[in-house]
Amino acid sequence: MDVKTVLSVLFLLSISWANAQDLPPFTEDCRSDAYPPPVKDKVGTYVLNLDQAPEDRWTGLVKPLTEKLIVLIQDIKDLVGIFVNETKAVDYLDELLAPMADTFPEPYPGELKGIANATGIPLGQVILYNVFYEVFTVCTSLVVEDKTGDLFHARNLDFGLFLGWDAKNSTWALTERLRPLIINVDYQQGGKTVGKGVHFAGYVGMITGMKPGVLSLSMNERFQAEGGFIGIIEWVLGQRDGQWMGFVLRDAVVKATDFNSTLQYLTSVDLLAPGYIILGGNSTGQGAIITRSIGTKADDVKMLNPSNGTWYLVETNYDNWESPPFFDNRRAPATKCMNTMTQANVGLKGIFNVLSTKPVRNLLTTYTALMHVRSGTLDTYLQYCPQPCFPW
Ligand SMILES: *[C@@H]1O[C@H](CO)[C@@H](O)[C@H](O)[C@H]1NC(C)=O
Ligand SMILES: *[C@@H]1O[C@H](CO)[C@@H](O)[C@H](O)[C@H]1NC(C)=O
Ligand SMILES: *[C@@H]1O[C@H](CO)[C@@H](O)[C@H](O)[C@H]1NC(C)=O
Ligand SMILES: *[C@@H]1O[C@H](CO)[C@@H](O)[C@H](O)[C@H]1NC(C)=O
Ligand SMILES: *[C@@H]1O[C@H](CO)[C@@H](O)[C@H](O)[C@H]1NC(C)=O
Ligand SMILES: *[C@@H]1O[C@H](CO)[C@@H](O)[C@H](O)[C@H]1NC(C)=O
Repeated sequence: MDVKTVLSVLFLLSISWANAQDLPPFTEDCRSDAYPPPVKDKVGTYVLNLDQAPEDRWTGLVKPLTEKLIVLIQDIKDLVGIFVNETKAVDYLDELLAPMADTFPEPYPGELKGIANATGIPLGQVILYNVFYEVFTVCTSLVVEDKTGDLFHARNLDFGLFLGWDAKNSTWALTERLRPLIINVDYQQGGKTVGKGVHFAGYVGMITGMKPGVLSLSMNERFQAEGGFIGIIEWVLGQRDGQWMGFVLRDAVVKATDFNSTLQYLTSVDLLAPGYIILGGNSTGQGAIITRSIGTKADDVKMLNPSNGTWYLVETNYDNWESPPFFDNRRAPATKCMNTMTQANVGLKGIFNVLSTKPVRNLLTTYTALMHVRSGTLDTYLQYCPQPCFPW
């Protein structure tokens, strides 16, 4: 069964469930009151000292979170168990995945081993946890330009689909477990910030991040037949070259010199899984949705073009030249709220309101990150979605 089929079945079930409960609709008018969110929802920052050995640099973050990580990884193992219907296979995962660490580029082998050592979690499970973010990230990303050519970039990260519906609380158990692990990471070298990212503690790749003054990026999952799991399984079996998205994006941010060359690089770099890479720069017109396939191919690059009225780009989890499926249309409400906001009101407040409007905000939404490249601002807020709320 492919992901879209599973989603549509879940959608139909949830509609009948909602009908049975006589719930009001899951949507709401575009919000104007969500910003600023409560201070308690603002995420803290961990300084990742790149001058420290890879084995040591994450210890201070992950060690105190060990118990939470163990519970979360058990959820992921349970899910893999459902897909392969063979509990024994799950036990072999440790043995199967642990040797993979040494096939990653530097500094990732050392970082993963250091996390395993600091928490006592077997290395194979740390790798499983890291692989997991390459698939199953259902999200909404925006790149927006104001009337002066200043750029803003924001994203919701929706995560945890299928992972334990908690009927009592009407929440996804895994989504709930992820929130306490969300942290802003300040990448420092020689005492200077060389990049910023939003991480789940223990995940060393980057799917939301920025180089202050230069560019910002986010990655949304793209569901494609030959993508996701297949590319990754082929890689595990040693039948594929190509690189992990989270590592490619982290390296791209930390090493970025300018928007154009990063755009070129991300359009053609060899990837193991497909995805949408949303890139923002520091000057007018520097915004792009790169629709990536596995291998070195980009299916499409859509650019900001304020001179013809394209002052924002919205990407969820579907190709921008096709309609989203009826059961998961977050693009239309996000687009409607962008137009309601108007270009005159572009700013952290305006885009936070758009991303806080149901169903753009839904039960899977873990955080909203707001990025402003010129000032180097990266603010992350935990998001919750009290009922009635769409399950994804
Ligand atoms: C899962 O495994 C059990 C026991 O091996 C078997 O009886 C069952 O039919 C399998 N289910 C599926 C969906 O393959
Ligand atoms: C594991 O951590 C301990 C200290 O907590 C350290 O002495 C040891 O060298 C580490 N092992 C590896 C393989 O990094
Ligand atoms: C469900 O809600 C109760 C009360 O709000 C809370 O104590 C419990 O931890 C929640 N369960 C999960 C899995 O989040
Ligand atoms: C944008 O980034 C480029 C490349 O780093 C830099 O030369 C330029 O000064 C930056 N422009 C602004 C407006 O910050
Ligand atoms: C970046 O690329 C665009 C479009 O190809 C071009 O118009 C612009 O001059 C380039 N900017 C720099 C700084 O190279
Ligand atoms: C404006 O330009 C963008 C990117 O070049 C293009 O995708 C879009 O269709 C154009 N819109 C109009 C109204 O011409």
